[in-house]
Amino acid sequence: MERTLAIIKPDAVERGAVGAIIQRIETDGLRIREMRLVRLSKEDAAGFYAVHRGKPFFDSLTDFMSSGPIVVLALEAPDVIRRWRRMMGATDPAKAERGTLRREFGWSVETNATHGSDAPETAAFELDYFFPKPEIPAPAKA
Ligand code: RTP
Ligand code: MG
Repeated sequence: MERTLAIIKPDAVERGAVGAIIQRIETDGLRIREMRLVRLSKEDAAGFYAVHRGKPFFDSLTDFMSSGPIVVLALEAPDVIRRWRRMMGATDPAKAERGTLRREFGWSVETNATHGSDAPETAAFELDYFFPKPEIPAPAKA
């Protein structure tokens, strides 16, 4: 069993595509283990996308990711990192295969509807960014 961090980006939330994307997640058999609607500050977005610091699109990307609410999800399934990225399609919606989420809901190489972790190490960092494990677990209910 594997977990990945998925994001429904501000453009897709704004376009009213949350329900359709979640339906595709469930239809494909990926389990939703955590889910939240959050609004990132520019600093939050920079922390999340720290691997892209210094790239020409970093400033624009962090502006975009903090421009409106996003939905963050922890997805679980065998081979889910690869499966979720295959469902999303190529970064540029114009190059994404037909039937992929970015082809259907994305608009540009930046406003491309969804995010997915790209490896087990990035998944661990990204899951912890939004769903940190409490240091002391809550007591079991009596
Ligand atoms: P993501 O991390 O969001 O799942 O997307 P990805 O792996 O397919 O693409 P990545 O190279 O990690 O880029 C992260 C996000 O930055 C924006 N981007 N803009 N203007 C550009 O050339 C450009 N390139 C990338 C996109 O929002 C991309 O998803
Ligand atoms: Mg990436």
